Amino acid sequence: LYTWMRNARDNTPVMFDEPSQSWKIYRYEDVHRVLSDWEVFSNDMCRVIPEHGFTRGNLSTMDPPEHKQLRGVVAQGFTPRTLAQLTPKIEELVKELLDAVEDRDEIDIARDLSYQLPLNVISTLIGVPREDRGVLQRTADAQLALTCENPTNGDFVVQVQKAMEELQAYIKELSAERRANPQDDVISKLATATVQDRSLDEEEVVNFTVLLLLAGHLTTMSLLGNMMLTLSEHPDQLAEVRANRDLVPDAIEEVLRYRTPVPEGGRVTNRDVELGGTVIPANKMVLCSLISANRDERKYPNPDKFDIRRDPNPQLAFTTGIHYCLGAHLARLEAGIALNTILDRYAEFTLTGLEWYPTYALCNLKRLTFDVRRT
Ligand code: HEM
Repeated sequence: LYTWMRNARDNTPVMFDEPSQSWKIYRYEDVHRVLSDWEVFSNDMCRVIPEHGFTRGNLSTMDPPEHKQLRGVVAQGFTPRTLAQLTPKIEELVKELLDAVEDRDEIDIARDLSYQLPLNVISTLIGVPREDRGVLQRTADAQLALTCENPTNGDFVVQVQKAMEELQAYIKELSAERRANPQDDVISKLATATVQDRSLDEEEVVNFTVLLLLAGHLTTMSLLGNMMLTLSEHPDQLAEVRANRDLVPDAIEEVLRYRTPVPEGGRVTNRDVELGGTVIPANKMVLCSLISANRDERKYPNPDKFDIRRDPNPQLAFTTGIHYCLGAHLARLEAGIALNTILDRYAEFTLTGLEWYPTYALCNLKRLTFDVRRT
């Protein structure tokens, strides 16, 4: 894959892809331009893929000014300062998950930690009570089965639809409850928000909440697994991080660059536009390869080398511009706490096995086992 992408960057950096009927962008500079220029590259992808799914209230398919207004309703809840208050809760969750496998000498980071932690963190933040989290799990499992196991199987599509409907119905109920009885959580904020002198309607609240719940789960799961795998493949750098915890954030940034969780970011052209010497016509889907941009030798010396001391490291795993991932700080916070806790708890961990989900739709590990020796 990485060799193929290097060739694409050299020879066809802006390329029309017949099967997906979209324009693929491979170089860092071009990807950065597309993601930054919202006036030309719109997020209203429903124009070209009508079956795109839930739309109203879905930030990732909106343009200004509505995008900014809606994002503003919850943005405060995702700033580093607000999230810092969540630190003790996340530490407790990590501890609880690792305590649950304390009697084992082999742990599966994918199943025991990276699937569970983001699900619980995002549910806590949004306000989904612990006993109701099964519905989220069913949606995530259906999505994993579809995107990762068998993207063309119709039965899996039906299962995702069913799980989504169940989740939407559940959130509808929960938001009505919180509208009547607001609490200190994100769903209450959405249910009681006014934007341009009007309340959000039920559909907007439900869609936005569902987006938040789903966007924060499998993506962060990917980061946690990639982080543990990549560090275990680079024992010298792992030892450096163990000895100097100030390097934890740098290590996380480099993992995001080196093994980018979300492969692509999509836009649609508002008009004909020239990019890297090629003209892309209006109303065409544009897919920016975040994996390729993060390995572009025009931007990074030695891009295929994992190096936690890279400086600067303006990786694009969370993209850039007005749609920059709302949960980026949260994902970094979770990864930092998970890594620090693991380093405190285990003096050594040795990789014993791994299995990737078979497709590249979302780079995710299904199994990642380590023999551990406690401190
Ligand atoms: C958007 C990646 C974690 C919420 C995005 C986008 C990417 C991304 C690539 C698309 C941005 C664009 O279209 O330009 C990731 C990765 C994560 C992660 C790699 C973990 C490592 C989270 C978490 C949340 C979250 C924890 C929690 C709520 C969102 C939302 C958007 C978004 C709401 C839409 C933002 C907008 O369109 O304005 N993320 N994400 N993400 N992400 Fe994340």
